[in-house]
Amino acid sequence: MSRGQFIVFEGIDGSGTTTQARVAAAWLRSKGVDVVETCEPTDLPVGKLIRQALARRMPGCEGEQLAPHFFALLFATDRMHHMQAVITPALEAGRWVVSDRCYLSSFAYQSIDYDLDLVRAMNHEVRRADLTFLLDLPIGQAEERIAPRELFENSPREVFENAEMLTRVRSNYLQIADLLEGEGERIVRLDAGRSREAVAADIRDTLAGLL
Ligand code: TYD
Repeated sequence: MSRGQFIVFEGIDGSGTTTQARVAAAWLRSKGVDVVETCEPTDLPVGKLIRQALARRMPGCEGEQLAPHFFALLFATDRMHHMQAVITPALEAGRWVVSDRCYLSSFAYQSIDYDLDLVRAMNHEVRRADLTFLLDLPIGQAEERIAPRELFENSPREVFENAEMLTRVRSNYLQIADLLEGEGERIVRLDAGRSREAVAADIRDTLAGLL
């Protein structure tokens, strides 16, 4: 089997990155791969602060909309710790890493209202993924998936969970994916508007090629 692979799932809110990362990791394990499943924002200290900030519940700043560069710096900081504490040690031990989001999230989300080159500079030491799955979803469908969470799970919308933001994030994802492919990254775009099973089957086909 090949050396440890760093695999990342990306896409707008509602696109299914969390579900598909979980399904992919389980499938890889069933094939005997030693997988570390992880996500961003992380459960490390800065990741926890980010979750509070996204929900506008950061202690002392409740209800405040925090500045874009604040988020850009926090996500980059959380990522540096994630690399150091989780991703790099796992890959160096020959394990595979499946992450629900990584630097491409920062490129797509934080460049909505901050300069992409500055966001990239903040992340320049971050290891590039061996393979990224970009789950592409029309905004109408994302809305349909996010709205019930608000109603039934009593989870108020986070900072980026609105149609206007997500429209820009989606278009950023597609453009920036082109840019990164031009730099040699491998990014597989998938239509995430299909059933969970159909998307998972495409992901499995691609992963099978890495085994
Ligand atoms: P998300 O994966 O949706 O977490 P959860 O499913 O637990 O709510 O991520 C939270 C939000 O953070 C989401 O709107 C995307 C955003 N985000 C960024 O803006 N930049 C980043 O670098 C990352 C990792 C996430």
